[in-house]
Order: sequence, then structure tokens, then C-alpha cells
Amino acid sequence: MGNRKTRIGILSAGGDCPGINAAIRGVGKTAIVEYGMEVYGIANGFSGLVDKEMFALNEEELSGILTVGGTILGTSRMKPFKPEEGDTVTDKPQIIKKNYEDLGLDALVCIGGNGTQKTANLLANEGLNVVGIPKTIDNDVYGTDVTFGFDSAVWIATDAIDRLHTTANSHKRVMVIEVMGHHAGWIALYSGIAGGGDVILIPEMEYDLEVIANCLVERNRKGKPYSIVVVAEGIEKPKKKSAAAYIGKKITKMTGLETRETILGYIQRGGSPSPSDRILATRYGAYAAELIHKRQFGTMVSLQGNNIAAVPLAEVGGKLSLVEHDHHLITKGKRMGVCFGK
Ligand code: F6P
Repeated sequence: MGNRKTRIGILSAGGDCPGINAAIRGVGKTAIVEYGMEVYGIANGFSGLVDKEMFALNEEELSGILTVGGTILGTSRMKPFKPEEGDTVTDKPQIIKKNYEDLGLDALVCIGGNGTQKTANLLANEGLNVVGIPKTIDNDVYGTDVTFGFDSAVWIATDAIDRLHTTANSHKRVMVIEVMGHHAGWIALYSGIAGGGDVILIPEMEYDLEVIANCLVERNRKGKPYSIVVVAEGIEKPKKKSAAAYIGKKITKMTGLETRETILGYIQRGGSPSPSDRILATRYGAYAAELIHKRQFGTMVSLQGNNIAAVPLAEVGGKLSLVEHDHHLITKGKRMGVCFGK
């Protein structure tokens, strides 16, 4: 390497979330200011490594992005180890390996969710110097207490639920709100509790429609003028129907109560990160640069308690962090009369 500066590439892959730019800034500024490294952005996730799309990230490019939503690098869901439809093999990992060398990269930072960390581990196995940073609004990355993006999404979902309370009250309706989370119910659980949801349904827990209907009828009987039902998009339901539409229709049919549905959708992934997410993403980014300096590759930065630590990527890939049935918010919620569907 001689006197050449250490050159690092940063990419973001998978669904975006608030805080990615804060993480890029955290990595980049620490790498440049503290360690005198050269920093490059890789465009559009792993596609950029296949297509050799790389651009310099100097301090100038890293300024003014802390509060900006989305990702200045672009993202994609391209999985380089997965053969294209109709193929049984893929040459993308070898192309990436060659391009990594051609581009003179000494290390690669992969900002992403579960899928990204799995790919990051496979690339580490191919000999690339990889450090992962966990991000997703779903908060389902294994090996860390929390991902950045989650807190912002909970804020957005909670604000939406707050707004539904007032209109639900005016019209004496049951409001069903669907939040994101295909496999994990973290957003539904946290926004449901923060927003005072009366029924909270998450993919990890089975539910009984009779129990939900009884709960809503009972509330009505007690003189509660309206109810809020928070559902994660990934709950068990007939295919093609949205979770909100399915639950809403069933409630109307079984209780006769007037019901309306809201699907929050991509609003949960957009906009400026919350202060907590800005801080977490900055801490993750700064620590990723430190791990590169210490040559601790094949790792993912993670939050454990209040400490930032490194976990082996090999322990993260292919696993999910799901809500346990005895999660303290579920236990406390039940004791306050919140219905979790059973
Ligand atoms: O980022 C995770 C997530 O938000 C899921 O909750 C959601 O179902 C999914 O991404 C949808 O993303 P896309 O349409 O971008 O693939």
C-alpha cells in the first residue's frame, strides 16, 4: 500500500429509512478527519459495485446531509449472490470482487437491513474487508438492540394514530391503521402503545377475530365512543388483501360498528430522521470508521444497552429480531386492557 491513503467505499442497500445520510456522514467525516482516509460512495447498493459506479465523498459532499431523509447514494434490492430468474448460477460476486480491487478499495461499509448484512457476510467470506451498519424502520436486524430508522418511523406512526383519535372520536368509529413490518411487529407495538391503541396485532402473534370483536363491543358497551386498532402489514390474513382492509371488514361484519381503514405506507420511511436516529446513525457511522482503522472486518456495528459494539457478520446473516410474546410492552399493555388478539 506504501503511503497511499486507505480508501473506503460506502453503500446503502435495501429499503431506505431516515438516518442513512447521518450514518454516511458519521463514517465519512470520522474516516477523513480522524484517520486521514479517502471516502467514496457506491451508487445504488450492490448494483454500484457490479457496475463500478463510484464517486468521491469529500467533506463538502458530507456536509448538510445529517437531517436529510433517504440516501444520497441511492439504493437497490439487488442481491448479488442470488442467480437471476431462469439461471442457476451468478457471476456477480466475482465481478464485485474484481471491481473492488480495480477501484482500489481497502474496505467496504454496507448500510442495510437483514438482506444486506447477509450479503455483506458472503462478501466478507470472499475476502473483502467489510463492516456492516444496521438500518431499517422495521427494527428486525439480529444482533443489535435497535436499528436507526425505527425511532423516526415510530414517531410518524404515533403522530398518525394521534390524528386518528380525534376524527374517530368525532364520528364514533373504529379506526384501523396499518403500519409497516412484514415479519416483525416492532413499529405496530411501539406506535400502538405510544398512541394508545386499543387493539394491537403483530405478525409474531396469532389472533382470534372473536376476541377482537368482543373487545371492541365491550368498549362500546362501557361507553367508550371509539376505538383504535393498530395492525402490522404482515399479520396472518388471506393473500392479496391488506391487513387493514381484512381486519376492518371483519370488524364491521362481526360487530356492526362503523369502521375506517388507513394504510400509512411509505410515509413511514420518508423525511428527516428523529434526533435519536441522528445520534444512533452518527454513533454507528463513527464506530464503523474506527473498526476499519482497527482492521476489525467481517463485523457489524450494534447497540448493546447503551454501548456500541461489533458483532461478527457471520452471527447476524439470515436471522431476524422478532418481538417476543412476553415482551414487557405486551405484558404491560395486557394488564391495562390492550387487546393483542388472543
Ligand atoms: O424497509 C422495510 C420495509 O419497509 C417493509 O416494512 C416493507 O414491507 C418493505 O420495506 C417494502 O419496501 P419496498 O416496497 O421498497 O420493497
